[in-house]
Amino acid sequence: MRDLLPEETATWSRVERLAEDLSARRGYRRVVTPILEHTEVFAHGVGAGTDIVDKEMYTFEDRGGRSLTLRPEATASVVRAYFEGGLHQGPQPARLHYLGPMFRYDRPQKGRYRTFQQFGVEAIGDAAPELDVEVIELADAWLRACGIDDATLQLNSIGDAVCRPGFRRALQDYYRPHLPNLCEDCRRRFDTNPLRLLDCKKPADEPLQAGAPSPVDHLCDDCRAHHGRVRDELTGLGIEFEENPRLVRGLDYYTRTAFEFWDPGIDGAQNALGGGGRYDGLAEVLGFQATPAVGFAMGLDRVVLAVQERGAGSPPDRPDVVVIAAADAAVSLGLEVARDLRRVGIATVSAVPGRSLKAQMRQATKLDAPAVVIIGEEELDRGEATVRDMADGAQARVPLGTQSAGLVDALRTILAATDASGETAAVGPVPGAEQ
Ligand code: HAM
Repeated sequence: MRDLLPEETATWSRVERLAEDLSARRGYRRVVTPILEHTEVFAHGVGAGTDIVDKEMYTFEDRGGRSLTLRPEATASVVRAYFEGGLHQGPQPARLHYLGPMFRYDRPQKGRYRTFQQFGVEAIGDAAPELDVEVIELADAWLRACGIDDATLQLNSIGDAVCRPGFRRALQDYYRPHLPNLCEDCRRRFDTNPLRLLDCKKPADEPLQAGAPSPVDHLCDDCRAHHGRVRDELTGLGIEFEENPRLVRGLDYYTRTAFEFWDPGIDGAQNALGGGGRYDGLAEVLGFQATPAVGFAMGLDRVVLAVQERGAGSPPDRPDVVVIAAADAAVSLGLEVARDLRRVGIATVSAVPGRSLKAQMRQATKLDAPAVVIIGEEELDRGEATVRDMADGAQARVPLGTQSAGLVDALRTILAATDASGETAAVGPVPGAEQ
């Protein structure tokens, strides 16, 4: 598991803010569920026979002897919350979004961690293909707003309870003669989850995949019509996609639409920036009434990495001003001045007092503030402060006045010049962001 440190978190905060903004603009309101659930929520929801349930869950017993699991994903939790919170009795579909940590006992490597963050949305309570398109459009718009405009949308339909059994049989018939040569995982999947044979990443199994039956060739009429509508509406919106008959997703609950966004800069298993699809059968599997739904989750760790690799990361946040009390007697006034500046919206950090002026200046330099305010004994006597423009080292004495009014004016001049030079690009919307 990893920590996220301030060097990185400015980019994180930006992509999270964009996720919240773009979701809210489309009516997807935030939902927060606990980071752990009764184990059966995931065991049933995600499905026995999936890697997540078989190998990757952090499961433990609580003090009451109940089996709990740190959430490996949030869709099953959100569906549970939708029913338990009575959202199924409100307007349909319920449009929800979430941000937060997930936990999987995966093999850690670049882009794959044991704790990772997801931004997800779920539209629960309607079967219309237009909703599939709505969530895909949101994911697409968000990636672009983050600065990723070259992700490829992979699209497939994996059928439903009507046509899936026939497709499973066709797959098993195709793979049966090759069974002894398949990798160990695939031999196990042959019975439990034959769809996963299609996306095995072992090089030895890949040649077989090319000739395997395609799910879209086995769709029933309703699934075919649904898939056709999704494709047409995406095309109508100008959202490009690649039909990918091998895309089956690693969770059991999907029906019909399945999709992923891939980073073309990354080869291999970690290239999915996010994925999702329709899951019309999940509610029933969890013991609730049958309810159609569609959604996605994007991996923030991978998206932040992709943003940084494209040079679109944000520099760490920095304050506007550092206030230095250069004499013991000036400490109280320093605190008052800092409060006055914050009240008018100037981001202000107080240097730790009691150290030499030089040491405090070093603190200010490290914090990278464009301006420094110094209050020493002389300033204290005269009701003034020294303002230093850190860009050129120019210093001026200004009268403090009521609520530091004189100082505020002087600082605003320096900050305006810094803004104009583009040096404070860390804050505010990114170029290309949706307005
Ligand atoms: P998922 O494909 O398992 O889907 O995860 C979605 C995304 O989370 C992945 O594409 C990836 O970016 C990120 N992710 C997964 N595992 C890791 C990891 N170990 N380290 C870093 N990032 C990771 C789901 O979770 C479904 N709940 C999506 C969904 C929502 N389907 C319908 N609604």
